[in-house]
Amino acid sequence: MTDSSLQADYTETDIRQLVTQFYAQVRQDGQLGPIFEQNVQNWDEHLDMLCDFWSAILLGTRRFKGAPIARHAALPELSWPLFERWLEIFNQTTATLGKPALQYKADAMADRIAAKLWQTYQAQSSQTRLPDTLPPGLERYSQSPVFTPDNLPDALRRAHNTKSGTWGLLRVQTGVLRFALDQEPFTEVVLTAGQCVAIEPQVLHHVEFELPGSFQIEFFKQVR
Ligand code: HEM
Repeated sequence: MTDSSLQADYTETDIRQLVTQFYAQVRQDGQLGPIFEQNVQNWDEHLDMLCDFWSAILLGTRRFKGAPIARHAALPELSWPLFERWLEIFNQTTATLGKPALQYKADAMADRIAAKLWQTYQAQSSQTRLPDTLPPGLERYSQSPVFTPDNLPDALRRAHNTKSGTWGLLRVQTGVLRFALDQEPFTEVVLTAGQCVAIEPQVLHHVEFELPGSFQIEFFKQVR
């Protein structure tokens, strides 16, 4: 079955039913339930947000304003088996709705998003932290423009480095940015609003937006 062979057979009402049924099951689950109970304060708000999320994905609406990557990255002790359990319950729920197009598209998107969330979580938690402050004795001499997904130069998305003696201090203003070293120790960090990373002279690295936002880099050199 392909996506295009199925006509959209669902509405906002079906999406709300999916979300409500799914989280009712999740809350009762021995592994997942406690994680949600510890982290969700207001279930009505949470379910509304998840309806907006799935409505954005399945119907192309634009109400969702969350930051799932950052939210999940901040949860302690996630594991891939937990994501598998999440997907198992999700697939069971979509199968009960009698809406093949909804089931097909929602299941496919859930797989992709779960993989992405896990990839980011793993990258973040296995990191040897990168420094977020510069060594003493440097002076600031310039700064980059504010970069967003719209003006981010391709060169910054590929391995590149600062020139000899130049340090950078990258600060994320909004959104979520992945910063990766392209040389030993090949560490990567997923930075959210307000977080910084210090960039050593000539060390190869690249960046990629995980969620749209903005960042800026200040440049420093040794005081003579
Ligand atoms: C191991 C699997 C998962 C666990 C334990 C989990 C747990 C949670 C928790 C506790 C929150 C609330 C966080 C907070 O408000 O601080 C949350 C939010 C959310 N989750 Fe998950 N989640 C999992 C997988 C997924 C997957 C696979 C998706 C999507 C396909 C998803 C979509 C969302 C969304 C959209 C939010 C709201 C994000 C926001 O507040 O911006 N989750 N999740």
